[in-house]
Amino acid sequence: MSVAKKENKKITTHVLQTMKNQGEKISMLTAYDYSIAKILDAAGIDILLVGDSASNVMAGHETTLPITLDQMIYHAQSVIRAVERAFVVVDLPFGTYQGNSTKALNSAISIMKESGAHAVKLEGGSEIEESVRRILSAGIPVMGHLGLTPQSIYKFGTYSVRAKEEAEAKKLLDDALLLQDIGCFSIVLEKIPAELGRKVSESVQIPVIGIGAGNGTDGQVLVVHDMLGITKDFSPRFLRRYLNLFDTIKEATEKYIGDVKSGDFPSDQEQY
Ligand code: KIV
Repeated sequence: MSVAKKENKKITTHVLQTMKNQGEKISMLTAYDYSIAKILDAAGIDILLVGDSASNVMAGHETTLPITLDQMIYHAQSVIRAVERAFVVVDLPFGTYQGNSTKALNSAISIMKESGAHAVKLEGGSEIEESVRRILSAGIPVMGHLGLTPQSIYKFGTYSVRAKEEAEAKKLLDDALLLQDIGCFSIVLEKIPAELGRKVSESVQIPVIGIGAGNGTDGQVLVVHDMLGITKDFSPRFLRRYLNLFDTIKEATEKYIGDVKSGDFPSDQEQY
């Protein structure tokens, strides 16, 4: 039986650590609004990530860079209202933590205080050590994020697989150990070779959640719009689509439009 079911309680950092210790895989999806979060929570998802991918899938921006702290807090508040069981992590958006640990602490406190979220996620390793330490010192759980870190897309220049070369792979492993040692409760690894994903997961004691990081991590995360097929044009190799909601919703909308135009809707039974 799963750790959370047996203990019959909300998911916490302690439950997530127990899952890793007992070899139970951790499920994580993004969520940005009340209605979808309610469904995912009812299904038994372990972690909901209010990702800054909201910038792409909710707001239509090309990158995650434009989303603001207030917009992230708005999404997080909506998700928190829906959740009974899942552990809710919120991304600190670009520009709210890099290079200024006091600003980082204030950003994290705003998220925790104004949304009621359970933890924050930051992208990067040694470069943001001071910011992570300050946030942790306030008692706020921090999830790290290494590998392809979309807030650095203009530095990378491409969304292709990271850490294929030895030097970058070594830095990634060193960063994972650093994040663990300073007190992060978990790390996300994005788009790296499966072998490295497994190596990092075996090298640290804390849970490692992968997205395009292979089957050797302690859990998996996907962007919910990709997993449900609401997005259509984004098809990386790591993505498994469980539905094709773009076409399903489009067909339903076409049928509705037809029914309105023809006068078929509303029927006698659908009016007062
Ligand atoms: O913002 C996001 O959706 C993320 C996931 C890709 C892990 O950070």
